[in-house]
Amino acid sequence: MPIYTTNQGWVLETATTAYALGLNQAGLLVHRYWGARLKAPDDYPTAPNPGSWSAFNNPAQRTPEEYPGYEDIKFIDPCLKVTFADGVRNVVLRFDSAEVRAGEPPELRIHLRDTTYPFQATLHYRVYETYDLIERAVTVTNAGDAPITIERIWSAQWHMPAGGNYRLTHAVGRHMDEMHIRREPLTEGIKLLESRRLTSSHHHSPWFAADHGSADEDAGEVWFSVLAWSGNWKLSAEVTDFGSTRVSMGINDWDFAWRLEPGEVFSTPSSYAGYTVAGFGGASRRLHDFIRDTLLPHGRTIHKVIYNSWEATEFAVDEESQVALAELAAAMGVELFVLDDGWFHGRDHDAAGLGDWWPDERKFPNGLTPLIERVNKLGMEFGLWVEPEMVNPDSELYRAHPDWVLHFPTRARTEARNQLILNIARTDVQDYLIDQLDRLLAQHNITFIKWDMNRNVSEPGWPGAAGDPREVWVRYVHGLYRIWGTLRDRHPDVIWQSCSGGAGRADLGILRLADQIWVSDNTEPTARLAIQEGFSQIFPAITMEAWVTDMGAEYVPFEFRCHVSMCGTLGIGGHLVHWTPDRRAEAARWIAHYKGIRHIVQFGDLFRLRSPQAHPYSALQYVSKDRSESVLFAFRTHLPPPAQLPPLYLRGLDPDLAYEIEGFAGARSGSAWMNGGLSLELADFGSAVRRIRRVE
Ligand code: DGJ
Repeated sequence: MPIYTTNQGWVLETATTAYALGLNQAGLLVHRYWGARLKAPDDYPTAPNPGSWSAFNNPAQRTPEEYPGYEDIKFIDPCLKVTFADGVRNVVLRFDSAEVRAGEPPELRIHLRDTTYPFQATLHYRVYETYDLIERAVTVTNAGDAPITIERIWSAQWHMPAGGNYRLTHAVGRHMDEMHIRREPLTEGIKLLESRRLTSSHHHSPWFAADHGSADEDAGEVWFSVLAWSGNWKLSAEVTDFGSTRVSMGINDWDFAWRLEPGEVFSTPSSYAGYTVAGFGGASRRLHDFIRDTLLPHGRTIHKVIYNSWEATEFAVDEESQVALAELAAAMGVELFVLDDGWFHGRDHDAAGLGDWWPDERKFPNGLTPLIERVNKLGMEFGLWVEPEMVNPDSELYRAHPDWVLHFPTRARTEARNQLILNIARTDVQDYLIDQLDRLLAQHNITFIKWDMNRNVSEPGWPGAAGDPREVWVRYVHGLYRIWGTLRDRHPDVIWQSCSGGAGRADLGILRLADQIWVSDNTEPTARLAIQEGFSQIFPAITMEAWVTDMGAEYVPFEFRCHVSMCGTLGIGGHLVHWTPDRRAEAARWIAHYKGIRHIVQFGDLFRLRSPQAHPYSALQYVSKDRSESVLFAFRTHLPPPAQLPPLYLRGLDPDLAYEIEGFAGARSGSAWMNGGLSLELADFGSAVRRIRRVE
């Protein structure tokens, strides 16, 4: 069992890392250690006992508490803030008991209780030994007979080792331009990242990495964490006035309140965190393995080559147009045909139809079954697009239930893309959607659903809410998980894609339900390279749905466009009818090629060799877990002549064994390829995909 209880407290050990906590002399639950695993459980530092610093700073201000509540003379960002029924607005949590639970994963539970009020908190620490990750979450219980209002409840505060200066890495973006990596020094004060958009958002990701400023892709200490939550979140990276660095993550407290009734329990989402000396690449690989093996519903099966109709036919879908595309797609080797937006009642454009989830009678007079049967006969599976949380005012659903949307009764309902958001915090709305979608899945041979969400929130009102209406932010996400989870339970073989106009809902919460994420509505391949690099910081390639479309076709060679999409779960999204037979034949060759390498891409280890966000000449490599096979991708966008391409130094090979690389004569040792490097000749917008094989 990787959890030790010693005189000093508790030690959580993973394969190579450790995390220690304990009680200090003041009885506070404090952080002791997070870093490399040491020889013995007694090796870890003892609990710190800082004194006060003049009348202006009590010891609490200098104490690295595991889960600080708002209390005392303490101004660091607390994890918990509540108001009791009598108006008292602080929370004084002290240690009560601890228990270690065997199981998979093993768990340490620390029970804290308020010194005055019948209010308890349990800190959950779960240990994923082989993944070198620790999961933290919190549950609080109202054990009294009066309600308690929760105003902030975060999942964890992660403490960086004391005495260091840290650099924060995070991702920023926007619709059509997600996941740009930023690295910046942390100095005294708080760096705040958040989503207030109802989803995890395109704008920031609930993820961070911290290092001493010198880590790179291959080496250096990195501490990192993600929050598994698909709604509003907040990340507070604080350097205190005493130089302690801590990063807290959790549900956003902005406009949030939760009325915890007597006897009720509130649970936070989980924050997963790890430490590595293998740099940012090492951090990503740990997350990739964990997500693939532990979270994804179908992470151990190959994800299929998709065709998606959106960029080809947009709303102008009907049986004939889709059969034409399907025939061409099947001939190219596509395995799954996905009918995107436009198929349902009244959906001729984006101003009508959302909410009415039955086939449009004019476009599909005999329903979807004839198309699905045709697709199946062509040897492909069939997938469908839905946007369940949304409604157009011009829809039968909205005409019947105008009160079902998020709104403030006295305010105009702000539309975006002509749509409003259903209040899926309401169980009647959840039940309705479960029923509609369940029927769709039960009546058709559908094996893939793309779940889209094309706007962010406005007027987050919930007239008639039973508790505090500000619970809506969390209850909405619980509702989403309930609808999706129920459908998944009823149709366990269906693969789901999470889409919110691209990566607007890309997070570890949704990846318990969805296997794939639509990375961006931007499918221009050079932009996509950068977006995919950002995405790969957190998510494994098996989740990264990437289509070859017609965006960028005027200036980016077809081969380059295929290679970019082959770095993830390959899809095709171009208008196949407009493609020449030669183009389709070339696509078929790349699809066949992809099928030969996808086990390495989808299940292997990713090494980012040269960053496309930093360089016009970039490369990445996937290596199979047994290191017998690998695949190298390289891309050159525009480099003004004269340009000399630097060598690429491979990674992840067995240094002592020999490997052959397509296009290079003779075998060399892994060590030679990794240290001596290799050179490629690529012109502007040139790209390469090279298989690497170990020779016996
Ligand atoms: C946004 C998605 O990201 C696109 O792929 C497409 O499904 C459209 N919505 C359809 O409205």
